[in-house]
Amino acid sequence: MSQAQPEGPGRSFAKRYEVDEGWQLDTLAVHAGQEPDELTGAVAPPIYQTSTYAQDGVGDPRGGFEYARTQNPTRARLERAVATLEGAEHGIAFASGSAATVTIAELAAPDEEILVGDDVYGGTFRYFDKVLRPRGVRIRFVDMTSRDALTEALSERTRLVWFETPTNPWLKLVDIARVAEAARESSGARGEHPIVVVDNTFASPAIQRPIELGADIAFHSATGPCRARRTTPFPAERDGRRTRPVRLLPRPARPPDARAPGRAARTERDGRREHAGGA
Ligand SMILES: Cc1ncc(COP(=O)(O)O)c(C=O)c1O
Repeated sequence: MSQAQPEGPGRSFAKRYEVDEGWQLDTLAVHAGQEPDELTGAVAPPIYQTSTYAQDGVGDPRGGFEYARTQNPTRARLERAVATLEGAEHGIAFASGSAATVTIAELAAPDEEILVGDDVYGGTFRYFDKVLRPRGVRIRFVDMTSRDALTEALSERTRLVWFETPTNPWLKLVDIARVAEAARESSGARGEHPIVVVDNTFASPAIQRPIELGADIAFHSATGPCRARRTTPFPAERDGRRTRPVRLLPRPARPPDARAPGRAARTERDGRREHAGGA
């Protein structure tokens, strides 16, 4: 995300509003990605509805902004906010949780294998079972609460290990650190350890931060559990290297959709406490 920061005089302005990663989550939720507009100081920054950007010279985009499919200032704010809340290096905002699912799943090629938790959101199940499997990607559903079942399933074809916790709908709890450790001990497809993907929709970073527990990618849909705040999912990556191939976003969040969840993040923790208290 660093290429999205303004250069020159704008830099010191951005510096003034830089978040301190040591702040508590409630404070981060108010400040991360919520800096005043770099250009005017507007505390409610504008929604940038542009597809292209004038460049200072040929191949010299201002602040790194060249085309909306890769960069948009409104989306970049949301991506910064969520990456910070998830404790990740990078964030990418997609148009829906399912758009994030499909894009992340593309990291597995035909003949490679995805180990999927045996209880996942119905749309996720259908996508893996009815779309990817017929295309030759090996899909195996595994009880991720069992270390033995996971260890037995991991193989030299495994590209992704994918699960929810709590799961939808059965609310099973999976030990993220234990799964990440098992994945790291195994050498999967392409001679790399399998990429551990946690669908963090039910807990959100207000309650659980999978990347700190060893996951490579955490994402969540903002559709339902975020009290209908609009749809914008947030995959946050531990290491940009893993998802660089999907950075040319086929399904990015639209700028107006990227705005609402960023501001709603300010009250995220209160909402989640209520949610958990009512469960
Ligand atoms: C756990 C989980 N993951 C992913 C999704 C898909 O998100 P979306 O509806 O934003 O496509 C949902 C939707 O309810 C969900 O519950």
